[in-house]
Amino acid sequence: MLYFLDSADTQAIAAAFDLWPLAGVTTNPSLIAREKRPLRDLLLEIRRLIGPGTMFHVQLLGSEAGIMVEEAQRLRDLLGDGFHPKVPVTPQGLKAIRLLAGLGFEPTATAIVSPSQALLAARAGAAFTAPYVNRLDMINGDGVGVVGEIARLFALHGLPTKILAASFKSVQQVHGVATAGAHTVTLAPDLLGPLLSHPLTESGIAGFLADWAGCYGPGHTVLDALATP
Ligand code: E4P
Repeated sequence: MLYFLDSADTQAIAAAFDLWPLAGVTTNPSLIAREKRPLRDLLLEIRRLIGPGTMFHVQLLGSEAGIMVEEAQRLRDLLGDGFHPKVPVTPQGLKAIRLLAGLGFEPTATAIVSPSQALLAARAGAAFTAPYVNRLDMINGDGVGVVGEIARLFALHGLPTKILAASFKSVQQVHGVATAGAHTVTLAPDLLGPLLSHPLTESGIAGFLADWAGCYGPGHTVLDALATP
């Protein structure tokens, strides 16, 4: 399973890409608007920060397929390889996905909350489908269940479309979609720490450091210990 960062905050993106094994960035119009910056500068800075070989998913805003295709072409000219147009699952969006796939784009169908939306998007030619887990859970839905059903349907019908599960607020949701068959998750920066941290890990490491310091000196590394005859 691949991990993406769901953010347009360049500081958070730089910090996260320094440490975590991330395959790319997803953004949405709300995340971009929150930065209050000229779009071109912001997108180019993100593209530079995440480096070559990573994916960058940016949502299209046109309400008609023809405009969405033009938006995607302009963004591809700007951002180059690794750019993926995100297209909401509306009737015009499905048309745009079909046209974009025909032009060699690998579109991501977004704002998905049901298996039938995901199936239609896959049939239209989406490379990724983005089901929104927490938004479903918040209205007594079953976000993980929807992801599992999409995974089952894609396998049943032999569809190559990947599941890029989105909208998370808890580690449990992320673990749930991983076991349900998501190929990719996109996470807000503040969810990365909780995915890794565990009190037993922290106390275990603290114990190792204390034992080591008792023998080789506080703060000493392997390098210091090897340098001492
Ligand atoms: C998906 O691509 C969206 O950017 C996102 O994950 C939505 O998350 P939210 O429900 O936390 O806004």
